[in-house]
Amino acid sequence: MAEPRPIRFLGKVALVTGGASGMGAESSIRLAREGAAVAVVGLPDDQRGAEVVQQIREDGGQAIYVGADVSRESDCDAAAQAAVDAFGRIDLCIAAAGILHADYVSGEVSDSELAADRRDGYLINKPVELWEKVLSVNLTGVMLTNRAVARRMIDQGEGGSIVNISSGAAKIPMPGSAEYSVSKTGVWMLTRVLAQELAPHDIRVNTVAPGVIDTPMALALSQDEERRAAFERFVPLGRLGEAADIAEASLFLLSDYAGYITGQILHPDGGLFTG
Ligand SMILES: NC(=O)c1ccc[n+]([C@@H]2O[C@H](COP(=O)([O-])OP(=O)(O)OC[C@H]3O[C@@H](n4cnc5c(N)ncnc54)[C@H](O)[C@@H]3O)[C@@H](O)[C@H]2O)c1
Repeated sequence: MAEPRPIRFLGKVALVTGGASGMGAESSIRLAREGAAVAVVGLPDDQRGAEVVQQIREDGGQAIYVGADVSRESDCDAAAQAAVDAFGRIDLCIAAAGILHADYVSGEVSDSELAADRRDGYLINKPVELWEKVLSVNLTGVMLTNRAVARRMIDQGEGGSIVNISSGAAKIPMPGSAEYSVSKTGVWMLTRVLAQELAPHDIRVNTVAPGVIDTPMALALSQDEERRAAFERFVPLGRLGEAADIAEASLFLLSDYAGYITGQILHPDGGLFTG
């Protein structure tokens, strides 16, 4: 018989952005199964958030949904405060909210994602507003989330652990998607700086940088059988990642098992970025 899984987060409180869907939702559910009370943070009108909270409660866990746009400082602050008001503290954070491009709607596939010719998206053609939108969510949003939770962790005086979701795109240039790659590289450096700034408070900050994962963000690829099969042949482990693969990597870094790890980047990517 298999050993029972350890319960790693009993009595802890977690805040997860991007929690209404994909890897943020899966991480929220798994955190709650291991004892954490979870503030599931997502866009205010995202109905999927209520389903995540319902699932956690049906599993016997504790969760609330908090509507917030992570690119707004006041929203990030209010979300962190909502977690403290509901559960008394914050110990853990996963910053997973993100957009692939300025018009990204989670769960929908845009024309630009299907375009064979990406040159319209090249920087020399791109309106600056589209660049700024992606950076405001993917990079500034992570920074604002991190410091909203870190300020409360510092006040509590008992340390904490933060995981920021970056991407393999942090290391691989993506012509046509410069702002996405730049935002994800920025998340990595943000993580390293914050890891040093927050270490005196025993707050660890790490980055999970996934390969291609079968979530709403990868629908353009996952729903196209031919493209999917070709890509899977290219991945050394022979498949797209699952949200659970990213949740497990994130929960490891959040947990005390990773107690001496901070400022690092971990690539759950099926071996894509080994070279
Ligand atoms: N799926 C992949 O292949 C892949 C690969 C590498 C990295 N990532 C990153 O993983 C993270 C999670 O994405 P996912 O794959 O689970 O897709 P997803 O679309 O399910 O998750 C992204 C979530 O962020 C939310 N969001 C978007 N803008 C927001 C805002 N301004 N404020 C608050 N929430 C906002 C979306 O509503 C959605 O719930 C993202 O940061 C993404 O860039 C995804």
